[in-house]
Amino acid sequence: MSSDILAHTEAGVCTITFNRLDKKNSITAAMYAALADALDAAQADGAVRCVVFQGHETIFSAGNDIADFLNQPPSGDDAPVFRFLRALAQFPKPVIAAVSGPAVGIGTTMLFHCDLVYAGDNAAFSMPFVNLGLCPEAASSLLVPQMLGYHRAAEALLLGEPFMAEAALEVGLVNRVVPPTEANAYAQATARKLAAKPLSALLETKRLMKKGQMAQVLAVMAEEAQSFGRMLREPAAKEAFSAFMERRKPDFSKV
Ligand code: COA
Repeated sequence: MSSDILAHTEAGVCTITFNRLDKKNSITAAMYAALADALDAAQADGAVRCVVFQGHETIFSAGNDIADFLNQPPSGDDAPVFRFLRALAQFPKPVIAAVSGPAVGIGTTMLFHCDLVYAGDNAAFSMPFVNLGLCPEAASSLLVPQMLGYHRAAEALLLGEPFMAEAALEVGLVNRVVPPTEANAYAQATARKLAAKPLSALLETKRLMKKGQMAQVLAVMAEEAQSFGRMLREPAAKEAFSAFMERRKPDFSKV
């Protein structure tokens, strides 16, 4: 497993850590593969009853690694990013996320597939897909309007502006806001509580809560993945990504 993703299991809790601070925990294809493998292993391991995702108190994740996306854009359903998203959406055991600092792109959209989310008060959620010439992923085109309501979803997805922890708490994306230095510990303590409960009851309860729209979530994810893969190769995304690498404002006047 890549050292940029750490996974370790203790007391029934598998903790998966984004560990690439120098690049703001942005996620490469190799890291998506490691995330998907970690979830598969946690699902198969009878000793794991709950999974926690965490980053650092200053940053959860800057989302997709832009240079890596430019160099090796995901192609096809089996691309690591889509493998990770499907594994997360269908993960049968409880999943908790501890989010402090920026959570960009997939750093936010993955949270719609977590069962509990604890945020540091410095958490900033954003889904700037349009600003990158892209479209939503992770079934966020379905799940964001469902949770936020259409107009707030349009603000988040069309304008791509960040919203802070308190706003995320208000719309129900976040369960509780805590000091950033306490978010990981809070998630860990809650995970231990879940791990002490009967696994069969946790599994069945989550299955029942999710089953109503699982097929739709997977279908939307697949449609988004097709568009996202195509748009990554188009001029708007190329301009946005080059602008990020060159630290300048993108110019979309010709695309
Ligand atoms: N992909 C690749 N590298 C990234 C990255 C990303 N998504 N986000 C940050 N980095 C890199 C920067 O290029 C920089 O690398 P360098 O030190 O080699 O120049 C380093 O991480 C630090 O980033 P910087 O932008 O200086 O940090 P910051 O604290 O000022 O800002 C963010 C943090 C997360 C707000 C900002 O980096 C950002 O907006 N990143 C892009 C997010 C994005 O658009 N993600 C794609 C979603 S699909």
